[in-house]
Amino acid sequence: MSLVSTAELLKKADAVGCAVGAFNCNNLEILQAIISAAEAEQSPVIIQASQGAIRYAGLEYITAMARVAALSASVPVALHLDHGTDFKQVVECIRAGFTSVMIDGSHLPLEENIKLTRKVVEVAHAVGVSVEGELGRLVGTEDEISVDEREAFFTDPQEAAVFVRETGIDALAPSIGTAHGRYRGKPKLDFDRLKQIRELVGIPLVLHGSSGVPAEDIRKAISLGVRKVNIDTDIREGFVKEMRRVLAAEPDEIDPRKILGPARSKAVEVIREKVRLFGSVKVL
Ligand code: G3H
Ligand code: 13P
Ligand code: ZN
Repeated sequence: MSLVSTAELLKKADAVGCAVGAFNCNNLEILQAIISAAEAEQSPVIIQASQGAIRYAGLEYITAMARVAALSASVPVALHLDHGTDFKQVVECIRAGFTSVMIDGSHLPLEENIKLTRKVVEVAHAVGVSVEGELGRLVGTEDEISVDEREAFFTDPQEAAVFVRETGIDALAPSIGTAHGRYRGKPKLDFDRLKQIRELVGIPLVLHGSSGVPAEDIRKAISLGVRKVNIDTDIREGFVKEMRRVLAAEPDEIDPRKILGPARSKAVEVIREKVRLFGSVKVL
C-alpha cells in the first residue's frame, strides 16, 4: 500500500468512535516496531516525525523509510509531521510526501496562531494534505508551576471554536492537562473542557502527551471525541529499558543487532497494547 490520507483515517475513526495511534519514529527499529505492531493487530497506524526526529535522522531518510514501510505493510499507514514549527518546513514535508502536517502555533497569540495555521491549511489542502493545529499549551511535567498556573495554559473552548472556524484545520490538539514526557504524579485531565471543546468545534481532537495516561482516562478521552492519540515516551522507555537489560546481561556484546533487536521487540509489545486500547482495528 502507498501512504494513506490521515484525514480519511480520522474521519473513519470519528464515524466508529475510536482513535488512531500516532507513534513517534526516530530510527529504523522503532519504525519497524510500529509497522509490526499495526500488522499484528490488523490496524491502521500513523507514523509521526518530530523536530527532534528530523534533526536526528534527516527528513529524506524518515520519508524514504516510511514510504518503504507503507509499501510493504498490509495495513494503511499515514505519515505525519509532529509539532511543525514553521511554514517552510511544512512545505518541505508536503513535498517529501507527508500525508498530514501539524503546525504548532500554540506559543503565539491567538490572532498570529490563526494567521500561520490558515496559511498552512491553504497550501496543504491544495494538495490533499490534512492539517492539525494546536491551541492552548502543554506544559512540561518538569515545569515547576502550580495547578492554577498550569490551567491558565488550557484551551479555552470558545477560542477553540473561533480557531477552528477561522483556520479550517482538520484536527485540533487542545491542552486539557496532559504533558509531554514522563508524569511525576497521576495526570489530571479536564474532561469537562474536552467535552465542551468537542461540542463547539465538531472536528477530530488529538491527545498529545498520552504516554503514562491511565487506560481508563484514554478510553474516556476517546469517548469524548479524541481521534488521534500521540505516543512517544512509552515507546522510548520500553526500548531503552530493554537495551539496558541486554547490556547488563551481556556486557561484552558488541553486535548492535543483538541489543537493538530485543529493544525493537519490546517496542512492538508496547505499541500493540496501545493499538488495542485505542480500538483502531475498527477503522479497517
Ligand atoms: O512532542 C514531543 C515528542 O515526544 C517529540 O520529542 O522532539 O524529542 O523527538 P522530540
Ligand atoms: P509523549 O511522549 O508524552 O507520549 O507525547 C508524545 C506527543 O505528544 C508527540 O506529539
Ligand atoms: Zn505532542
